[in-house]
Amino acid sequence: MDFFAYKNNKLYCEDVDLQDIAMECGTPCYVYSKKTLERHVEVYKNAFKTKNNLICFSVKSLSNISILELINKNGCGFDVVSGGELKRTLYIGADPKKIIFSGVGKSYDEILLGIQEGILSFNVESEAEVYRIEEIASLQNKIVDVAIRFNPEVDSGGHEYIKTGRKGDKFGISSDDSVLKIANYIYESKNLNLVGLACHIGSQIMDLESYRLTAKNIKELSIKIKEIGNKLDFLDLGGGLGIPYENDKTPSPQDLISIIEAELMDVEQRIVLEPGRSISGNAGVLLTKVEYIKDNFLIADAAMNDLLRPALYKAKHDVWSLTESKAIDQVWTIVGPVCESADVIAKDHPINADVGDILAIKTAGAYGFVMSSNYNSRVRPAEILVDGQTFNIVRSRESFDDLIKNEINLND
Ligand code: LLP
Repeated sequence: MDFFAYKNNKLYCEDVDLQDIAMECGTPCYVYSKKTLERHVEVYKNAFKTKNNLICFSVKSLSNISILELINKNGCGFDVVSGGELKRTLYIGADPKKIIFSGVGKSYDEILLGIQEGILSFNVESEAEVYRIEEIASLQNKIVDVAIRFNPEVDSGGHEYIKTGRKGDKFGISSDDSVLKIANYIYESKNLNLVGLACHIGSQIMDLESYRLTAKNIKELSIKIKEIGNKLDFLDLGGGLGIPYENDKTPSPQDLISIIEAELMDVEQRIVLEPGRSISGNAGVLLTKVEYIKDNFLIADAAMNDLLRPALYKAKHDVWSLTESKAIDQVWTIVGPVCESADVIAKDHPINADVGDILAIKTAGAYGFVMSSNYNSRVRPAEILVDGQTFNIVRSRESFDDLIKNEINLND
């Protein structure tokens, strides 16, 4: 559920007319709804019947510091995958003991920072990473908490590029024998402490059976790890819950959590989840103006550099007019100005629109701004956060100076 809806024929975010935002802040711009974000966090938190579980919001899906602060205030921890994401969460005052660091290629400096800050866990994804963390922990004279990320051999996810839970995928550790060998190594290590077992099977997952299977696999493997002597604090089932992009019916966080809790009923460890998209996805839209009409094309001012998902995954995003129509009698292909034929926002899309109209590209809160770039030397769009009747810019539109600020003119 989200708080973008028509009132008196005008599209509102909470109590703000989106046309007012477009007029004041310009387009393209991302607009996020505070109420929607808070609601999604609440739904996740309230869905647990058992206590003391942890929701770690996946920072990669939407990482603006104002949004992270909001999510932090609402009691979530964070799942980070880079030093930059870790620094963002520390910057907004997140509790390090609620931060999980995932990712296959953690650098020396990233690990050092995580160790110095005392994060909840490094989710290790290879044997080599275990040795690197141990070496840094030893140099720092610390005992560092780690979890092993394994591949439960579950094939799910909305697109080939976002499947991660199969044996042979680059993420996690694929063989149970290797997991047990690593668990044994950590058990013997003076500088490492095994606190969890983790996995993340993919993204935009619609079938809950994959999660049930994952929960079953994680439980079985955790029992074997316990036999080695490690005392695990948590089982982390990652993120990945799908959301509706085109009126499709999707399972809710409650459905997800009740399946996981049922499968893990008799385990003593707390459950960690790392949702991203299902918290941030439909909390945001991208506003864009129609610049030109040519043939059946609406040429908009937002492009693949602003929202990469359609070009990269052929992802479908619904596009709404800011004025509600009783009947839609036009079909358009909505494209952006970038010089690539892949720069198509929506193909054959029914919508009434004219030059100068503002359109709302829906469900753009997750993997929208965070995947934007300066391709074609386009400045990245502004981000705006709506709170009831008010709205604030939480990231300014970039300027030409921003574009070239790190470039060095050898003739100067
Ligand atoms: N945990 C880990 C370890 C992950 O790699 C991810 C996402 C998540 C949690 C959060 O997954 P979510 O709940 O958001 O599905 N750019 C793609 C999605 C890539 C997801 C990468 N990992 C897209 O636009 O669909």
